[in-house]
Amino acid sequence: MPKLGVNIDHVATLRQARRTIFPDPIKAASMCERAGADSIVCHLRQDRRHIRDKDIYILRKTIKTKFNLEMSAIEEIVKIALKVRPDEATLVPERRKELTTEGGLDVIKYKKKVAKVVERLLKRAIYVSLFIDPNKRQIEASKDVGVPFIEIHTGSYADAKDINKRKAQLNKIKEAVRYAKCLGIKVNAGHGLNYDNVKDIAKIPGIENLNIGFSIISRAVFVGLDNAVSEMKRLIIK
Ligand code: PXP
Repeated sequence: MPKLGVNIDHVATLRQARRTIFPDPIKAASMCERAGADSIVCHLRQDRRHIRDKDIYILRKTIKTKFNLEMSAIEEIVKIALKVRPDEATLVPERRKELTTEGGLDVIKYKKKVAKVVERLLKRAIYVSLFIDPNKRQIEASKDVGVPFIEIHTGSYADAKDINKRKAQLNKIKEAVRYAKCLGIKVNAGHGLNYDNVKDIAKIPGIENLNIGFSIISRAVFVGLDNAVSEMKRLIIK
């Protein structure tokens, strides 16, 4: 049974829409924990469009479960991560104009750079995860750079336009999880997961954490954050 990591970026998106101090992502994180989140995830983007530096320093002190920081491998952000020391750091690709993280990290192409960043983070006892597409060669490259974790990008599954395409994507993810486990890598999964599509992913044996943000924060508008988190948690563990 996977655990639930709740991504709180979009609480901060709402705050930044008015450049004010609410809604407070720190308060949201503790509400999520009380409602059953097993970890708190956030992404410090280079453009700081939602989560800001101050947030992650406070989150480091206030999170009682686990803190997973999503980040690009650029030096400015790596230095901050080494200072803050989240429990886990998930390396993601980042383009300034994208709406959200599009596609997984190309570990094959950027192997040397990724390996150096992974080594520095691991030395500070930060568990490193690489956000990659469900692709064997990317999993092998991840193994080569020595990460304990990968996170399989579930976006293509979530965006599949018909049932056959969705099944094909689900099978790709299942195969990727199996292969990574064979190589001794632990597996998380996430992106685009919601209340309608999460169950099939949650049933895949061997996934440690599902990291989910947008659908939970959106549902919170109607039912409150605690209900939104506990409803998602129930779907995952059933
Ligand atoms: N995992 C990773 C690595 C991500 O970049 C994101 C988006 O920030 C998520 C999970 C959560 O995706 P969503 O907001 O679509 O649930």
